[in-house]
Amino acid sequence: MSYPDLLTSLTPRGACEHLYDLASKVPKTQVIVELGVYRARTTVWMAAGAQAGRGAHLYAIDPWDHPAHDPLKPKFGMSKQREIAEAYVVEQGHTDHVTLTQGFSAQVGQHWDGPKVGLLYVDGDHTYEGVMADWDAWSPHLVGTATVVWDDYLHPSHPGVRKAVDALVQRGDLTGMHVVADRIAVTRLPRGRHTPTRTTPPPNPEGEGTGQDQAGQDTEDPDPDTT
Ligand SMILES: C[S@@+](CC[C@H](N)C(=O)[O-])C[C@H]1O[C@@H](n2cnc3c(N)ncnc32)[C@H](O)[C@@H]1O
Repeated sequence: MSYPDLLTSLTPRGACEHLYDLASKVPKTQVIVELGVYRARTTVWMAAGAQAGRGAHLYAIDPWDHPAHDPLKPKFGMSKQREIAEAYVVEQGHTDHVTLTQGFSAQVGQHWDGPKVGLLYVDGDHTYEGVMADWDAWSPHLVGTATVVWDDYLHPSHPGVRKAVDALVQRGDLTGMHVVADRIAVTRLPRGRHTPTRTTPPPNPEGEGTGQDQAGQDTEDPDPDTT
């Protein structure tokens, strides 16, 4: 496999190449979702993989300079990061294949009514609570054959990522966990998975709009393995 000569940033090249491969296998009837975009380096790696492969659209979500963004992370909250991300997607010719959304990933997931997700890449809020909130919001939207990738699984500065992913594996929400490039944890849903267990209360007590009833009930792609 030869890879394009694309920029990397916080996520090293080995992990980017693996994301490229995974993205290439997602069918056009499904989508790729990235939580945590920064300057869209991994976004463009996955978009390039998708276009070289089966043509899935990619949705990428980050609050960037949203006023409610964590003031402890000023680097991520600078408007220039959003502008760099937008410009990079255009420069690389992915305007029609990538939708950049400014927002908090768990909130966006709670209101998601787009296509089912074949590849979910989680690289946003790295706290245990943040990772679990992302899982709760996005897992109902996954196809049963989805791959879920977690950045910084081994990073000593982000113990919450490993704690959360391990908890999800432990309780059976995820399986097939393996670490790639000493960096990303690659997981998938167990076969025959149905509604995942919620770790936090639903956003609305009436339970409307969570989409959980449809989890695992969608029409699956005949290719069962996107890894
Ligand atoms: C490590 S960077 C992402 C790097 C990017 N995936 C790459 O390697 O090119 C983490 C990003 O997550 C974003 N972020 C933080 N909290 C978030 C949240 N709740 N929802 C979505 N993104 C979030 C930050 O703004 C930051 O841009």
